[in-house]
Amino acid sequence: MTASGLADLLLERRVIVCVGSGGVGKTTLAASLGIEAARLGRRVLVLTIDPARRLADALGLPSFGNEVRRVDVRGALPEGHLDAMMLDTRATFDDLIRRLAPDEVRRREILENQVYRLVSDSFGSSQEYMATEKLYDVVATGRYDLVVLDTPPVKNALEFLDAPGRLARFLDRRIVKWFLTPYDENRVFGRVLIGTSGVVFRLLGVIFGREFLGELSRFFIAFRDMYDGFRERHEAVTRIFEDQATAFLVVSAPTEASVDVATFFREELLARRLVLGGFLVNQVHGWGPEVEDPADILEPLLTNLPEDRARRVRSRCAVAYGRTKAVAAREGPLRERIRRYAHPDRVYAEIPLLPEPVRDLEGLDAVIRHLFPAHPDP
Ligand SMILES: Nc1ncnc2c1ncn2[C@@H]1O[C@H](COP(=O)(O)OP(=O)(O)O)[C@@H](O)[C@H]1O
Ligand SMILES: [Mg+2]
Repeated sequence: MTASGLADLLLERRVIVCVGSGGVGKTTLAASLGIEAARLGRRVLVLTIDPARRLADALGLPSFGNEVRRVDVRGALPEGHLDAMMLDTRATFDDLIRRLAPDEVRRREILENQVYRLVSDSFGSSQEYMATEKLYDVVATGRYDLVVLDTPPVKNALEFLDAPGRLARFLDRRIVKWFLTPYDENRVFGRVLIGTSGVVFRLLGVIFGREFLGELSRFFIAFRDMYDGFRERHEAVTRIFEDQATAFLVVSAPTEASVDVATFFREELLARRLVLGGFLVNQVHGWGPEVEDPADILEPLLTNLPEDRARRVRSRCAVAYGRTKAVAAREGPLRERIRRYAHPDRVYAEIPLLPEPVRDLEGLDAVIRHLFPAHPDP
C-alpha cells in the first residue's frame, strides 16, 4: 500500500500511535497527521510529548499543564478541527491521584506523602507511562474522532508498550500486603513488629530510618484503596491499544540504528497482535533522475571566472555531489528493507530531509505535501 492508504488511516482509525527511535520525526509527523486529519473533516487531538519549543509555540502550546489548545488549521473542513496538548507528566500523575482518591483526606494524605513524591518523581517523569495514562483520559471523553499519540524517546522501545502495566505491577497487592503486615491496619503506628517480615522491616528501618518506613507504610495504606482503579485503567489502556480502531505507525529515518528499532517495533507489534498500520521513513536524502548534477547548472556561470577559481568551484561541487550521492546510495537498502515490511497491505511513505528543521505550520505543511502528494494545497 502506498501513502494514499495513510489518508484512509486518518479517516478510519480512532487512535494512531507514532512509535520509533528518538529524533526520527515522531513529534513532527504526529502534528502533520493531526493537521491533515482536521482537513479531512475529523475532530482530532494530537497528544504530543516533547515538541521543540518553537514548534510548541507554533501550535500555541504553553510550557506547563495539560492544557488543550485549538490549532488554527488552514483549510480544515468545517466539521473538522485540531486540538493539541503537550503532556505535563507531573500534572498528569497528580490529576490521576485526585481522581482515584476516594475522598479529600485520602487525597491530601497521598499528595503530601514523601514516598508519593519520590514515586511520582520516578513515575511522573516516566513519560511513557503518563502518555498512556493521558491517552485513556482523552479517548474516554469521546470528544474526538481521532487521537494521534506522539510517543517519548525511549531507550528500550518495549518500555512504551509495557508502560500501562508498570504501575499496576508496582502496586501489586502482594507488595502492598507485605508492607502492611507488620502493622495492625487499624492501629498502624507504634505497634510491636511481629514475624519474619517484622525482622525484615526492622532491618529496613535501620537502613532507611523509621521515619521513612512509616511514610512508606502510610503511602501503601493510602494507595491500597486505589489499587483497583489503577488496575482498571491499565486494562482499559491495554484495550485501547488492542482495539482494531487503533493503528501503530512506525517512524524511522534511513539510518541503520533507527531501522533496527523499527524492525524491533514491527516484531513486537506483530507478536502482540496490535494493528501495524504502516511505516514512515523520514529525513530521506532523495535521489533520482530528477536530481541534477550541480556542475551542469554551474557550468555556464563559471565561464566568466578565472580558470583556477572555476576549477576550485567545480571540484568542490563534485565532492559535495559525490557525498550526497553516496549517502543516498547507503540509504537505498535501508529504505528497501522498510518497504518490504510494508508490502503488500501496509502504508509506506517517505519524506525527504527538508532544508530546515520543522518549526512552524509552514514547515508542517511542507511535510504534509510529501505525505499526501495528491492533496491540493489548502
Ligand atoms: N523531514 C524533515 N526534514 C527536516 N527536518 C526534520 C524533518 N523531520 C523532522 N525534522 C526535524 O528533526 C528534529 C527531530 O524531529 P522530531 O519530530 O522532534 O523527532 P522525534 O519526536 O522522533 O524525536 C526536529 O528538529 C525536526 O524539526
Ligand atoms: Mg518527539
